[in-house]
Amino acid sequence: MTAPKWWQSGVIYQIYPRSFQDSNADGIGDLPGVASRLEYCARLGVEALWLSPIYPSPMADFGYDVADYTDVDPIFGTLAQFDALVTQVKRHGMKLILDFVPNHTSDRHPWFLESRRSRTSPKRDWYLWRDPGPDGGPPNNWLSQFGGSAWQWDAATGQYYYHAFLSAQPDLNWRNPEVRDAMYEVLRFWLRRGVDGFRVDVLWQLIKDDRWRDNPPRPGYRAGHEPPHHSQIPLYTADRPEVQQVVAEMRRVVDEFEERVLIGEIYLPVERLVAYYGAQLDGAHLPFNFRLLQSPWNARAIATLIDRYERALPAGGWPNWVLGNHDIARIASRVGPLQARVAAVLLLTLRGTPTMYYGDELGMTDTTIPPERVQDPFEKNVPGLAVGRDPSRTPMQWTSGEYAGFSTRAPWLPISSASAVVNVEVEERETSSPLTLYRELLRLRRSSEALTLGSYEPVAMTGDLLAYLRRSPRSCLLIALNLGPAPFELDLASLRMKGRLLLSTHMDREDRSVLADVALRADEGVIVELT
Ligand code: GLC
Repeated sequence: MTAPKWWQSGVIYQIYPRSFQDSNADGIGDLPGVASRLEYCARLGVEALWLSPIYPSPMADFGYDVADYTDVDPIFGTLAQFDALVTQVKRHGMKLILDFVPNHTSDRHPWFLESRRSRTSPKRDWYLWRDPGPDGGPPNNWLSQFGGSAWQWDAATGQYYYHAFLSAQPDLNWRNPEVRDAMYEVLRFWLRRGVDGFRVDVLWQLIKDDRWRDNPPRPGYRAGHEPPHHSQIPLYTADRPEVQQVVAEMRRVVDEFEERVLIGEIYLPVERLVAYYGAQLDGAHLPFNFRLLQSPWNARAIATLIDRYERALPAGGWPNWVLGNHDIARIASRVGPLQARVAAVLLLTLRGTPTMYYGDELGMTDTTIPPERVQDPFEKNVPGLAVGRDPSRTPMQWTSGEYAGFSTRAPWLPISSASAVVNVEVEERETSSPLTLYRELLRLRRSSEALTLGSYEPVAMTGDLLAYLRRSPRSCLLIALNLGPAPFELDLASLRMKGRLLLSTHMDREDRSVLADVALRADEGVIVELT
């Protein structure tokens, strides 16, 4: 076996830069702020930091609307401060991953300003312009994922342009070779500056149908209960076969440099997701696996999804798992504080690269956002369905002090009232805090070949118990997770096993003797080293 890559053995930690650490008292996090917290990240034990977008942007979608791909927004700092951050991240023994947003630009990007100038602009074809449909309305029925039609009328030139998200986020035309070349140069710009890879935004949506066919309706859509775009199956706007060629090209660019990683944001069923590894494993190294974000939280559902994912993986394709991100409710709010600890064990003991979301290691929960403080354009466009993403984007909680040590003035989103107790300063001193649990888990994971690289074997269980083995040539670990509220006697002897307890989510077991059974309490997860 070849030596594992850093992105296989290590853990990725997502930082939402607006909310990690403010260094200049404007209430918004920034790059020097991130730099001042590298010690924390290194001590936590993660391998790589992924920064959500830091590029110049009108911030209509908080940086996912890029106005210049090769600079840093003044809110976050300067290019010089970025270079300094790269150096410091490396000095701490970590890697830096950037967010690449290729599907769309800001409507203020010079490319789009040029493109919308006239129908004969040399950049007209860089975006998706269409004549009105036969009735004078939009060219087809495609819907924006942030509400309304995906087509925006441009009176000056008498055509519509396509935007999968906000009208301020026009989609680029990835069938145009000039667009591809320009975007690959963007990748090289950052790779030369030393970034270790990219998380690629909405990678599966880059190519749209070249015949502009209507998307079919989705049976069972519940109007008023889910966002309007769920009323269609995105058959012609996402996961088009031609996108695979783009993914392979991006991979070739990344491979021009050594030891870099290509990660794709892809919300697709597992059987489609795995296509993004590439037919010859020449696609994304890690097509993000979001199964745990969408699964019901019970042992059977999770066991099934793990099996399905493991079975679908192509030979040599490296698995990965995501538990939270800036687009969904935090894990502690989805499953509650006790099960969030079980989820931590799950994330960090499954086979494959885990991605953590900042603050989840503290047990941060979603913060209630008063209506007048809503920032997220999705929530503003589609009110009343609780689609807002602000609750999981609130500032990192460092201390019990004012503004949680994030800033010296009121931040862009409110600080959680829970920050008085849920914060780094307090949790560092507590032997059983979520932070202490995460540090211990990360330490265990780094020191265990079975956990980082070993095989995965399900262990048949009933009821609320989820159990599996992680095995390497030298050791074998049993992970047993109680996803329910009732205690459970885990009879190791009947499984022809015995072992030593390495960790419990409750962080209160000191016993290192060899056991033939483990009494699992409610909501308890354990890691047992089999002997
Ligand atoms: C991705 C991002 C999300 C953003 C959207 C549009 O899904 O994760 O935050 O709003 O793309 O760029």
